[in-house]
Amino acid sequence: MRNWTPGKLRALKGKRKFATVTCYDATSAALIEALEGDKFPLVLVGDSLGNVMQGHDTALPVTIDHVIYHAQCVGRVLKNSLLLADMPFGSYQANDDEGFRNAVRLIKEGGADAVKLEGGERCVALIRRLVEAGIPVCGHLGLTPQSCLAMGFRVQARDEAAAERLIEEAKLLEAAGCFALVVECIPSALGAKVSAALSIPVIGIGAGAETDGQILVWQDLLGLNQNRLAKFVRRFGNLGEAAQTALNQYADAVGEGSYPAPAEAYE
Ligand code: KIV
Repeated sequence: MRNWTPGKLRALKGKRKFATVTCYDATSAALIEALEGDKFPLVLVGDSLGNVMQGHDTALPVTIDHVIYHAQCVGRVLKNSLLLADMPFGSYQANDDEGFRNAVRLIKEGGADAVKLEGGERCVALIRRLVEAGIPVCGHLGLTPQSCLAMGFRVQARDEAAAERLIEEAKLLEAAGCFALVVECIPSALGAKVSAALSIPVIGIGAGAETDGQILVWQDLLGLNQNRLAKFVRRFGNLGEAAQTALNQYADAVGEGSYPAPAEAYE
């Protein structure tokens, strides 16, 4: 058992705002793990791995085996934060039996502590079943990247009817037993309303400053990505540039013969 549980995360609601982050590999997980002060109560092995690890334009090609592999990589190192794993596209939409089996795989084989799936009312029966079986579930509303072919990558729920519908669906997910909810790319005022309407933590990404928590993709926040980034992303570092500087210095040092130096070679 990791230190952070769904119950502990729920207890943060109204007490303190928290940051969460995606992670896909052991080296990165070790950096989180070595931080002091319980900075990241939750780490997500997101299906965004399709973009940032596999080089696809969308997360659609990601399979349950891919998520299991990356959850295992992270989980070997992560001991403190709750390890949340995404149910990828196609792993739960066809029918609830398949969704149930795949969620169990994320827990048993991937070593995840909880699963996340995208969608509102249509997911309620599956979520109830998972929660009854002891699998903690996090919901995901707003821009749901697994529906990108239908909805694109636009800000969602801008009009009043869609905003009301989102709040209703959020309440349904809470009633079904979700311990937390991710809301992606919605107006800030709606992010604030959903957070106020629920007693579970609402984790925003492009949902303004009033949600209970925030989540960002590892590569985006650290500046490892060369891509054009969404408006809501803040680069908190420039590790891409630092890596390129180091790679240039290494190549130059080898080229000019200064690496390896005698102290870096065996007698
Ligand atoms: O896959 C992912 O990284 C996500 C977050 C952006 C919330 O679902």
